[in-house]
Amino acid sequence: MNDLLPLKDAAQQFGVKLDRLRRAAWDGRLTARQVGNQWLVEPSEVARFLRDGGRRPEPAAVTVGQRGEAMARIIAVAVPKGGTGKTTTTLNLGAALAEQGQRVLLVDFDPQGNLTQALGLRPADLEHTSYTAIKHFLSCFEPQLERAVRPTSMGVDVVPTSARLNLANDELAVAIQREFVLQKLLAPLAPSYDIILIDTLPYLGVLVVNALVAAQEVLVPLQAEYLATESVALMMDQVQLMRRSGLNASLRVLGILLTMVDQRTVIHREAVDYARRVFGSQVPIFGAMVKRSVRFPESQASHQSILAYDPEGDGSRAYRALAEEVLRGTS
Ligand SMILES: Nc1ncnc2c1ncn2[C@@H]1O[C@H](COP(=O)(O)OP(=O)(O)OP(=O)(O)O)[C@@H](O)[C@H]1O
Ligand SMILES: [Mg+2]
Repeated sequence: MNDLLPLKDAAQQFGVKLDRLRRAAWDGRLTARQVGNQWLVEPSEVARFLRDGGRRPEPAAVTVGQRGEAMARIIAVAVPKGGTGKTTTTLNLGAALAEQGQRVLLVDFDPQGNLTQALGLRPADLEHTSYTAIKHFLSCFEPQLERAVRPTSMGVDVVPTSARLNLANDELAVAIQREFVLQKLLAPLAPSYDIILIDTLPYLGVLVVNALVAAQEVLVPLQAEYLATESVALMMDQVQLMRRSGLNASLRVLGILLTMVDQRTVIHREAVDYARRVFGSQVPIFGAMVKRSVRFPESQASHQSILAYDPEGDGSRAYRALAEEVLRGTS
């Protein structure tokens, strides 16, 4: 076996940029071992990686089911911090993807039910939700999520939720294969959609782990503030844990989306630069950036996507650009 080299030395030895190797190690294209803050790699593995052109794994859109049918790409929108734009992004990215002709399903997996409410549904009135599907699954292991699926005026379908999803935390804690429930629930629906977006809650726990097992990719909204970067670092650690534990060995970060950006203030410009410096060497940062705008809360209060509420505004442009990057798979 070859000796293990720190990534920095390997980059120097092979005359390539350290960032290129770091990114590849992070998303699994280059097999490396992480010890503390350092990645160690075998020189022969670096040679293999460079020979193969360092190809990125195929976008998950080409995933094929057991009967050869195309399966949806499943993306969890997640970061363990409240109010960073997860729900806003799930909704408006979903609407922008639908505008591009994609068949989109949004899954509300946050007991706060903000996505459900933004789509004009009242959680208390709903007979079938993501929670009732979990409950049914735990009683007989039959996935019946399709009962909860509803069309919306935004051109996307939704699986709504209610505050009862809070109960699932305890119920899943004692369940067999508790981390795999959402994955099993989504499997029968996956052939009917191109993209499934899962809106998650701001705490790492069994519900978020379910979303990260079901998904192939994670989109991380980062509020352009210093304090928010810590939660993104936590999210990246969680993704690594999912991979190393084998719960989802191929999970990858699709990208970090900067949200609520106010480029007029120095502090925000610095936060954006900081995020690029700190995370840009590990995972992609979307070129699209969402500026702070009162149009977002306004659109949600009127149960519209930003695309319908303010079609020519910056917010619509940002989510359309994001949708294009998502469809391209980012770089
Ligand atoms: N770009 C933006 N500009 C201004 N306000 C925004 C923007 N994006 C989202 N908001 C508003 O900020 C609030 C929080 O956003 P959102 O609900 O999307 O965050 P979240 O991450 O889903 O929160 P939680 O962690 O509680 O689920 C909402 O009132 C939303 O309308
Ligand atoms: Mg939310």
